[in-house]
Amino acid sequence: MEKFIIKGGRPLKGEIKVGGAKNMALKIFAAALLSKEDVIIENVPQIEDIGKLVQIMKDLGVKVEKTGKHEYTVNAKNISKTRLSPELTPKLRASVMLLAPLLARKGRATMPHPGGCAIGRRPIDRFLEGFESMGVETSEDQNKNCYKLKVAKLKGSRFVFRRVAVTATESIVIAAVLAKGTTTLINAACEPEIIALAEFLNSCGAKISGAGTPNVTIEGVEKISGGKFKVIPDRIEAGSFIILAAAARSDLVISGCNPSHLEVPLYVLEKKMGLNLKRGNDYVRVLPRKKTLAGTEIQAHEYPGFPTDLQPPMAVLLTQASGMSMIFETIYENRLVYTDMLNRMGANIIMCDPHRVIINGPSCLRGKKVESPDLRAGIAMVIAGLVAEGTTEISNIYQIDRGYENLEKRLRKLGADIRRINR
Ligand code: EPZ
Repeated sequence: MEKFIIKGGRPLKGEIKVGGAKNMALKIFAAALLSKEDVIIENVPQIEDIGKLVQIMKDLGVKVEKTGKHEYTVNAKNISKTRLSPELTPKLRASVMLLAPLLARKGRATMPHPGGCAIGRRPIDRFLEGFESMGVETSEDQNKNCYKLKVAKLKGSRFVFRRVAVTATESIVIAAVLAKGTTTLINAACEPEIIALAEFLNSCGAKISGAGTPNVTIEGVEKISGGKFKVIPDRIEAGSFIILAAAARSDLVISGCNPSHLEVPLYVLEKKMGLNLKRGNDYVRVLPRKKTLAGTEIQAHEYPGFPTDLQPPMAVLLTQASGMSMIFETIYENRLVYTDMLNRMGANIIMCDPHRVIINGPSCLRGKKVESPDLRAGIAMVIAGLVAEGTTEISNIYQIDRGYENLEKRLRKLGADIRRINR
């Protein structure tokens, strides 16, 4: 099993470039199935999740070619299957994104239950409710442990999300592009990745307005053309590296990012905790801190609030801040379990309930054997290892490879003592 071995306590220095956004690239690949022409996708991160999705799409008969280090060409003229692979699908929750284009193009889709994951049950009820509002018949085949969906022709609908849901919003937008009539979404998610998805689809002939606001309207069209699209910078990778720099008392430039997608985290770090940072249009520079940062409280919230995906890295930083801090994780029911491993490293974290922890700092972290339950807790363990005295061993680093390309190589360039071993 592959592991990271990290010797901590070394301040880092230099520049790290942010890759394309995992949580946008995955959706562009799915949306490309709406077209029968070539779709060229640029700035695609080379991460495990992309590799898995490409495998699942090829299994459906879709042509997917890697036409550059970070570029793919998708052609979905011939979709030969509408049943997602029972072997491949459970390994990638985001494969749920393929339901919408399959319904739009073929009128049917069969999908094994997308597994939950370490951070929560991750049901897909909102996806199914949205599809049902568009005329889709959905059924669950218990013994085959799969969902079956079918529709003669998707029809426009007015759909209210009873709770904001990111990938479900993206799915209903994709389904609505080729539906008959107009679809209106109420209480839609507002993530930047949704704006970018709408821009891509509109560049191919779709008619989407209001993306990035809670009210989105999609006028159905007969078909969409192919096109070319560059994936936007990964705001979660950027935020992870900014927090890493702060925790490791480093002087780092995080380049190729869009700081305007990180307003709340940057406000918390700079104005509430006292981090010394500079920002430009496409970079953030974290300057070495001379004094201990102040503790604070954060509440994970849908965009533009504090992103839940930066909650685990932030928890590590808060163990190094002075005073009492609080994290309130409002989105997932199981996304604070990793804090137990931080306590084993010497942190002082009290879990009040599955959604809230209190962190008292600063604490001296010492290297331990830990694991990566999910990708964001995984990067948090890397940050903790860089901060800790001694050696930290992180197992299950497949989870980290799901979302961070060539992490150890990029961190070594900054002076980190991190290596990947296989034992
Ligand atoms: C997206 O997940 C991201 N994943 C997540 O990033 C991110 O944490 C999340 O949005 C919130 O920002 C991708 O884009 C691939 P949700 P998604 O639907 O769309 C519940 C990462 O680390 N829910 O906004 O699945 C759900 O269980 C990943 O990169 C239902 O109950 O998140 C969660 O508790 C982790 N029924 C809450 O809603 C549904 O049908 C919000 O989930 C759908 C969701």
